[in-house]
Amino acid sequence: IRRIAITTGGGDAPGLNAVIQAVTRSALQRGWTCVGIRDGYDGLLRPERYGPGEGLIPLTLPRVDGIAALGGTLLGSTNQGNPFAYPVRQADGSTALIDRSQDLLDALSRERVDALVAVGGDGSLAIAHRLAQRGLPVVGVPKTIDNDLDGTVTTFGFDTAVAFASECIDRLHTTAASHHRIIAVEVMGRYAGWIALHAGLAGGAHAILLPELPFDLAPVAEMVRRRDAQGQSHSLVVVAEGAHPRGGERALSGPAEAGHAERLGGMGEQVSQALARLAGKDARCVVLGHLLRGGSPSAFDRVAALRFGAAAVRALAAGLSGVMVALDGNTVRPVPLADVAGRMKAVPLDGDTLATARDLGICLGQ
Ligand code: F6P
Repeated sequence: IRRIAITTGGGDAPGLNAVIQAVTRSALQRGWTCVGIRDGYDGLLRPERYGPGEGLIPLTLPRVDGIAALGGTLLGSTNQGNPFAYPVRQADGSTALIDRSQDLLDALSRERVDALVAVGGDGSLAIAHRLAQRGLPVVGVPKTIDNDLDGTVTTFGFDTAVAFASECIDRLHTTAASHHRIIAVEVMGRYAGWIALHAGLAGGAHAILLPELPFDLAPVAEMVRRRDAQGQSHSLVVVAEGAHPRGGERALSGPAEAGHAERLGGMGEQVSQALARLAGKDARCVVLGHLLRGGSPSAFDRVAALRFGAAAVRALAAGLSGVMVALDGNTVRPVPLADVAGRMKAVPLDGDTLATARDLGICLGQ
């Protein structure tokens, strides 16, 4: 290997820049050069957008100096640039999804890129897997605030998201208590309840509603009334964006468009309005949304991201491809992308974290 590329795809997560720094520094230490592809693969697939030679960012020591502490990704990211199903506008105004994977492989070979580090969630890792199957040496790095990737104990970004959500819940307790209100706090997490469960526990929520446990609001309203009767006149309910009532459909804020992920949203507001009615109290909803993706990564996420980035370069140097670096116990190890790509990790219903919530008497809407 003489030259590698790194790409960041999907929703940003705190720690992306730390991965970029670790990959760059580890590659340069080995005498390789390193480039970053802008906006997923768009830097190579849409060169006209960036100007000649501008779709790739040369990653040098000065360029990555100090970036591990910064949120976001200096390369940019997109949810709409899958090279195997690339959205292309048609003459009639519609969008068709075209396989442009060969264009990408050709562009990488023109740029003399020998190997790729692909940092992303399930969608980006599935793309990485398919590129590896086409013969490109590829190592994946698991990223997402949602912590919903299989094969790894955790993803980077999750710890920062949970810490911020917990701080928000702490703050909402005092205003809810002052006004004797119910506050429903909606957090991201897609179809998994990791952020809701961990932030709800850390923030002392009175109820936590998860996608893994379709809920019934009657026990939540009952919990609110019981607290009222005991003189505790406020209640905090953490609602995962993917949570849904028993027998009910998920709330969608709009139709999934070609090349866009399905968008979740609105469940916090629905829960708040229904609880106001059922418990006869004033209620408000706070949607934390993209705030959970912003800000400086926690020390845990920085270290995880640096370890993942360095391990990805070690894997490439060892001749591995088609693997994802994963946290297994306390050690980062490569696992086959074939075993993890496209497989969602839900909160286990028999796990001790959920058991803790039950043991603490936190209402799970059951
Ligand atoms: O996967 C990360 C995530 O932030 C989810 O929690 C959320 O559902 C989704 O991305 C939102 O994505 P966007 O608004 O960027 O399309």
